[in-house]
Amino acid sequence: MALNTINPTETNAWKKLEMHYNEMQKASMSELFQLDATRTEKFNLKWNDFLIDYSKNIINQETLQLLQELADEVGLKSAISDYFEGAIINQTENRAVLHTALRAQESAIINVEGQNVVSEIYEVKNKIKAFTNEVTSGARTGYTGKPFTDVVNIGIGGSDLGPAMAVEALQFYKNHLNVHFVSNVDGDHVNEVIKKLNPETTLFVIVSKTFTTQETLTNSETIKKWFLSQDFGTTQEDIAKHFVAVSTNIQKATEFGINPNNVFPMWDWVGGRFSLWSAVGLTISLAVGYDNFDELLQGANEMDEHFKTEEFDKNMPVILALLSIWYNNFFGAESEALIPYTQYLQKLAPYLQQGTMESNGKSVGRDGKPVNYQTGTIIWGEPGTNAQHAFFQLIHQGTKLIPADFIGFITPLYGDNDHHDKLMSNFFAQTEALMHGKTETQVQAEFDKQGVSAEKAKFLLPFKVFSGNKPTNTILIQKLSPKTLGSLISMYEHKIFVQGIIWNIFSFDQWGVELGKQLANSILEEINTKTVKNHDNSTAFLLNHFLINK
Ligand code: F6P
Repeated sequence: MALNTINPTETNAWKKLEMHYNEMQKASMSELFQLDATRTEKFNLKWNDFLIDYSKNIINQETLQLLQELADEVGLKSAISDYFEGAIINQTENRAVLHTALRAQESAIINVEGQNVVSEIYEVKNKIKAFTNEVTSGARTGYTGKPFTDVVNIGIGGSDLGPAMAVEALQFYKNHLNVHFVSNVDGDHVNEVIKKLNPETTLFVIVSKTFTTQETLTNSETIKKWFLSQDFGTTQEDIAKHFVAVSTNIQKATEFGINPNNVFPMWDWVGGRFSLWSAVGLTISLAVGYDNFDELLQGANEMDEHFKTEEFDKNMPVILALLSIWYNNFFGAESEALIPYTQYLQKLAPYLQQGTMESNGKSVGRDGKPVNYQTGTIIWGEPGTNAQHAFFQLIHQGTKLIPADFIGFITPLYGDNDHHDKLMSNFFAQTEALMHGKTETQVQAEFDKQGVSAEKAKFLLPFKVFSGNKPTNTILIQKLSPKTLGSLISMYEHKIFVQGIIWNIFSFDQWGVELGKQLANSILEEINTKTVKNHDNSTAFLLNHFLINK
């Protein structure tokens, strides 16, 4: 079934939201709290180990009501069913979108073109499990009979960011294997990684859905060449022992020299940026063990069930998506910050940048017409407290409205409460400061207390005032574990989906990355032949400068 093509701005709810925005744009959150002692009770969600307090937003109950009406009017409910049931919702590529099937229970029935795909998924999961156990136990060895000590994930985009983010996030649960990632076609990247490796004990996992991606193939060839260098006494046959692949393109992977038994299949109904749940997560499984990988999937599956079955007013991904629409489309917010209060999630923002911006960075509606409203939010962020000492100044006192998600955990993994209490006091303090700001009266009272002269106070006062009223969501989770990480990622995936449905765009294709790839191929040809062809003046000038000075 095809998704509908409703322009959200033509819905009744949108028009009502525009009028409602006129009333709310000057609303003060601090005042809203003063007026309603039960505000937090109304605007928080509890589910499993998650608590989301979204009361520090410029909303009232009518805002939420109207946003839910918008979701109803664009047919979100039936779109969710289509998504989970394997309908061809990636219409421009004629594909279902079923990363949720990868984490479904074994008993589930999910059909793609009339065929239940769950048994195939479990076959691959069993293969991941067996392979992981062989590598981590030392039963599988390299060409000189030594167990593997290092794993190198070679991939880019979704074939890199998901595994890299999860391995970093789950470092606490890691085993003895050293894990490396090679993604950029920049030769300095791969050479820096190679420098750290012993060919006898290194396993290479080439991850490419298509097995045609320039960056990944170039890096794989460079590594293969290094692996076969005479100093190591390796032979062509040894490639099969040290290289495995994850791909839909089994033929290309075998042409590279990989034993077909060591190709982990994936399916075209798994989008690259949502693929860490498939065999693309092999490196995660190798790093933290299969059971932890499975827990990650389990956590995602539980969030899937929540999203699929919960009413919109209690549904975490839906509420987060609607709040984001409120700021993006009515307040004109240009970006959103994502601030995890744990160093482990330092790669969360780059990971979700692909998920969010490759999915919803679209300007043509599902009806093929240009949209006349803003889509795709810009996501950025860094862990707190580091972020506080870097860019928080702009969030507090800059001219832009930047709604932010604060993600924190109640239990620290090493049990260091001294550090954790300091970390979390910052976590709570920041959202409070962002909301209340600091008034002239408060600043003046501080000056009086400090005995600041009247003249100095008059000069300094405007700079020390914080307007406040900056919206935040507080996402408080019991503990960072494979399971809660799975739920967290799944929550954001569904937020992306909801937004794409409301914006009437196709979230699961990525035609926008093609043009640059094509041009790069023809420019490479010109660099190789040292002949600069027809370009605009600027590009020709730059290419000539590069060729002359290279
Ligand atoms: O950047 C475009 C893209 O297709 C991403 O969507 C994908 O994750 C990445 O390239 C890598 O693709 P592949 O896994 O096929 O190498």
